[in-house]
Amino acid sequence: MNDERWQEVDDYVERTFALRDEELEGVLEASARAGLPAINVAANQGRFLELLARGIGARRILEIGTLGGYSTLWLARALPEGGELVTLEFDPTHAAVARANFAAAGRSSMVRLIEGAAGDSLAHLIDAHEAPFDFIFIDADKEGYGEYFTLSMQLAHSGTMIVADNVVRAGAVADASSEDPRVQGVQRFLEAVARDERVSATAVQTVGTKGYDGLALVLVR
Ligand code: SAH
Ligand code: DHB
Ligand code: MG
Repeated sequence: MNDERWQEVDDYVERTFALRDEELEGVLEASARAGLPAINVAANQGRFLELLARGIGARRILEIGTLGGYSTLWLARALPEGGELVTLEFDPTHAAVARANFAAAGRSSMVRLIEGAAGDSLAHLIDAHEAPFDFIFIDADKEGYGEYFTLSMQLAHSGTMIVADNVVRAGAVADASSEDPRVQGVQRFLEAVARDERVSATAVQTVGTKGYDGLALVLVR
């Protein structure tokens, strides 16, 4: 089992389920032209996020880490008329590319991008008594995941689904002596989730075009 096989299966799944439509391919092309790194979720993972959000009937979605807005636009597809998605990004170039991508997709009125460090933006949302979110996707700097979980819980309600990307990191998450601050950030996050009696959670490993990684799934009781 190797990366080439993972790629072939992702290609097969993308073809079979027609996951590469024009709108989302356009987002990736515009992002690549602007020099953004290709660290967006894979197409089948984007659909997976959409299905989870749709399955719980999400009307309000929060995303932490926008990049060019690829996962944002998958999640936006889950929203009904009148739904809202708030996405947080601190890199001004990424934010500008994402805003242009939301406009091109006709989603500007549904998506609110807040520019700034995610910890600050989350604190502002809490202070402003923002209505709680039904679905939260954590995908910014891995060092911050623990803090983002703590703050996300203050913007959640019973039934909120929290999903975090990149929690396996090619298996490094199982290395208790890892000195990689990103791995340590993910470990702190997973351990905090596991200790928290307000949630039920697990983590699953994934392979594919984006390599070997994984997702954490956290349901607020
Ligand atoms: N969710 C996107 C990928 C996000 S990549 C997708 O799948 O399409 C991670 C993003 O988080 C990058 O754009 C990076 O600039 C942003 N980021 C990193 N640290 C951040 C911070 N402290 N606050 C807000 N955004 C941050
Ligand atoms: C990387 C991948 C991601 O999905 C992400 O959110 C951040 C970084 C990476 O491969 O470096
Ligand atoms: Mg990610």
